[in-house]
Amino acid sequence: MKELTILKPDDWHLHLREGIVLKNIIRFTSEFFGRAIVMPNTKKPITTIKECISYKKSISEALSINSTFEPLMTIYLTDETVKNEIIEGFNNKVFFAAKLYPANVTTNSSQGVKKIENLHEIFEVMQELGMPLLIHGEVTDPEVDIFDREEVFIDKELSPLIQKFPKLKIVLEHITTSHAVDFVQENNLGATITPHHLHINRNAMFFGGLNSDFYCLPVAKRENNRIALRKAATSGKECFFLGTDSAPHLRQWKAFCGCAGIFNSPVAIESYIKVFEEENALNQFEKFASLNGPNFYNLPFNTEKIRLVPKLNEIPEFIQVIEKNKVVGQIKPFHGGETLTWRVEGVIK
Ligand code: NCD
Ligand code: ZN
Repeated sequence: MKELTILKPDDWHLHLREGIVLKNIIRFTSEFFGRAIVMPNTKKPITTIKECISYKKSISEALSINSTFEPLMTIYLTDETVKNEIIEGFNNKVFFAAKLYPANVTTNSSQGVKKIENLHEIFEVMQELGMPLLIHGEVTDPEVDIFDREEVFIDKELSPLIQKFPKLKIVLEHITTSHAVDFVQENNLGATITPHHLHINRNAMFFGGLNSDFYCLPVAKRENNRIALRKAATSGKECFFLGTDSAPHLRQWKAFCGCAGIFNSPVAIESYIKVFEEENALNQFEKFASLNGPNFYNLPFNTEKIRLVPKLNEIPEFIQVIEKNKVVGQIKPFHGGETLTWRVEGVIK
């Protein structure tokens, strides 16, 4: 087995959280990724320019002094979002994109959008500006089976939206179904694919009893969907790119309330590359990780490179959260307790 050198990747969907968690976890992304789109679903969501600037500042302060990592910030859309905030925030490069969470669809989304039609004026403006719309694509109707929520969203909400705003730049985030894979390709959208949806199907949540470690939203689906996602990610097709949806929750919360989210940033690159190796597609990895995203977003490629070597890599059961030299919590990483077979050895300038 040979080592691999690729252009530095970017993470096009990331939850960095705030405060002490942010300070403890940011290094897992900033070390080997050039940029990341930072999700705005903080406890009090990022709905204004002012909040966004202040959140970006706290992210910059959490980075090591000579870090070149660039956070790309987003605004959290609500029924009250106003046009001018979008225009000013985008034109002044405060917002890179806007995130649409249907209200109550996932973690910290209670202030999300109640009715997508309420935002038509905003989409009109975004379409004109060329501002990307990032969508958590699930309906929230409790009558719809949780395993069908992505498909129903695509048919009932996304399809009409695309008809009405054909030039709007849309990314369907963390896709989980073969239906989404087909839809994205047929409609010239972009899509992020997470490492966990490439590795697990819905059985994981019930393996050895109820297991919230594998609970995230959208939930993992049946095996045929996982296979379709693996095929899409490793196809090299431009519309599919890396977005970890790394979403840390402190162990005490995850164990207590089973909140949705999988923390994968400490192992993201190694986790993805395992899939590409298994699919005999190592030659497509750089496209998915480092080229397709910048192409979609019209950004330059990163110039630094990372070196990946086939080496045993024991993943710790937990990542400690440390404050003033004391352990104040822990977070379970994806693949925690497993031994992976690749390791990122370093950055080449
Ligand atoms: C994310 C979180 O915890 O913020 N959770 C998740 O299960 N993916 C939110 C999200 O992206 O849905
Ligand atoms: Zn997310």
